[in-house]
Amino acid sequence: MKLSVFASLVVVPSSVFGLLDQKIKAKGKVYLGSALDPNTFNDGAVRPVAISGDFGAFTPENSGKWDTTEPARGVFNFTNLDALVNFATSNGKIVRGHTLVWHQQLPAWVQAIRDSNTLTQVIQNHIATEVGRYRGRIFAWDVVNEIFNDNGTFRTSVFFNLLGENFVDIAFRAARAADPNAKLYINDFNLDGPGPKIDALIALVGRLKSRGVPIDGIGSQSHLILGQVGGVAGQLPRLAATGLQVALTELDIRIQSPVTTQKLQQQQNDFNTVARACISVPNCVGITVWGISDKNSFVDSTFPGFTAPLLFDRNLQRKPAYNGVDAAFS
Ligand code: G3I
Repeated sequence: MKLSVFASLVVVPSSVFGLLDQKIKAKGKVYLGSALDPNTFNDGAVRPVAISGDFGAFTPENSGKWDTTEPARGVFNFTNLDALVNFATSNGKIVRGHTLVWHQQLPAWVQAIRDSNTLTQVIQNHIATEVGRYRGRIFAWDVVNEIFNDNGTFRTSVFFNLLGENFVDIAFRAARAADPNAKLYINDFNLDGPGPKIDALIALVGRLKSRGVPIDGIGSQSHLILGQVGGVAGQLPRLAATGLQVALTELDIRIQSPVTTQKLQQQQNDFNTVARACISVPNCVGITVWGISDKNSFVDSTFPGFTAPLLFDRNLQRKPAYNGVDAAFS
């Protein structure tokens, strides 16, 4: 008893580096995480930062996606995901699974399915196999990803076209059956501002709950733009008001080139604002940044003219953004 009282009084000095994960835990959260995969953790410069105390959780950036894990029907390949999960657990980190049902990185054989019974079986088998393999080792899954358009309608995909909204129910029920203890998430982007998309997602969560569909969390990806992060603090409580847990699952804040000292300072402020938004929402369980080093971010190739969205620069040096997160946790 004395020990636990003592432990609750331990304060992590804000000036100590390499302890962001410990600091967010001291704020009552579960983790600060990063996207990672073998291509990045096998980089000798990235690896020591990955295993440092800054990160307590990893999300497979690509190795858990359908085109990698089931490239042909019933033919599974978990080489990279096994490697990521083993790297994480051997370094004392937890793993968020990403992602089971997504319209991108979806093999052509799934997109070619034309009947609802076949698709249902294929979804169930995919999820049973992938989630079941990591039962007890992956603590949360992005079960469905990016299923809404920005106008709040369902995105056109083979899943919605053949099964309507029911594909969501099928996916969550299959995931719960495969690992009853994993936290099951719906995940999407552009939930950081008001509008029809977040309204539609919240309404869907209500319908899922009323149908008894096993859903535990909402992931707000939070791919943000410098100077445009103010909506997070307003929308995160709306997501949390569903009663589910929430998480920032893919946070980055991209800068329009050229990067300047002033913009890096703005990025520090923006990361601080976003991190504090999670800290102040009780059901917000954690934050995942979408990569460790700016040299590995998807941003440069996806958003031409934008760059440098993460906490560590291309030389794995801490950026002002790191200090913004550190201050939010301290
Ligand atoms: O693996 C192939 C490799 O064999 C080939 O030589 C190379 C040539 O381009 O491509 C490699 O595949 C790339 C893959 O990442 C693995 O590196 C794809 O081209 C590339 O498109 C893919 O990008 C990923 C993207 O999802 C795909 O949509 C990004 O790394 C990844 O960060 C990004 O992550 C998504 C989340 O899953 C969902 N939310 C949005 C986020 C950003 O787009």
